[in-house]
Amino acid sequence: MKKELIFEGNEKRVYATDNPHQVVFHYNDVIVAFNNVKRARLRGKGVLTNKISAFLLGYLNRCGIPTHFVTRQDDREQLCRKIDIIPLEVVVHNRMAGTLAAKLGVEDGFKPGNIITDLCYNNDELGDPLVNSDQAVALNLATYEELEQMFSMAKKAGRLLTSLFHKAGIELVDVKFEFGRASDTGEIIISDEISPDTCRLWDEETGERMDRDRFRLDLGDVIPAYADVLERLEKLDI
Ligand code: C5P
Repeated sequence: MKKELIFEGNEKRVYATDNPHQVVFHYNDVIVAFNNVKRARLRGKGVLTNKISAFLLGYLNRCGIPTHFVTRQDDREQLCRKIDIIPLEVVVHNRMAGTLAAKLGVEDGFKPGNIITDLCYNNDELGDPLVNSDQAVALNLATYEELEQMFSMAKKAGRLLTSLFHKAGIELVDVKFEFGRASDTGEIIISDEISPDTCRLWDEETGERMDRDRFRLDLGDVIPAYADVLERLEKLDI
């Protein structure tokens, strides 16, 4: 049973439920970029991100990487485990694109021989700055052991999602993971959302972008691209 609103973000709302250890995530149609400077409402977006995120988080659960996802309730809502948020993001990069490519002066899409992981402090006022583990521990955001676990889970989840998307003819360029401590057991689990809003996804054949960059870079056709991602995932025999 959905109860009072406990969090209102740009793209989603979180509601309490009768179960103190579960919440309902409601995905709306807002899309934002550049730390909320650019913003629009795209009809049907929340249905697509809810379905894609449910698909991907459910897949990770089945592969043994614990996430907050419990079940999708309808087109816009999913039931999730309640967490204490850890305000850190781990981004896994298979290629250098966006901010990372610009920062290091390499061509957007440069493919290094290794996988890169970045840690960011999830803080809008500061513009989600990069931090290292010592800084995160100094700010009491997480312990070294928790950080080790987060990096290890992010790398494993990154590998699993890379092969999953490859089966759908999509290259996973980068992906952002958020984490929390499950309110019932205290274990570290992946939280929030995994969707074209939080990944870069390129069509393997054409190189077309199928993610939030379509909005960031004014490429148009955001909804058809997200719908294509969902359709390809749903066709997979997994
Ligand atoms: O913006 P940047 O190039 O650093 O993004 C790296 C990856 O992390 C992209 O897939 C982007 O969509 C995702 N990201 C995100 N939320 C943020 C920052 C980045 O989902 N606050």
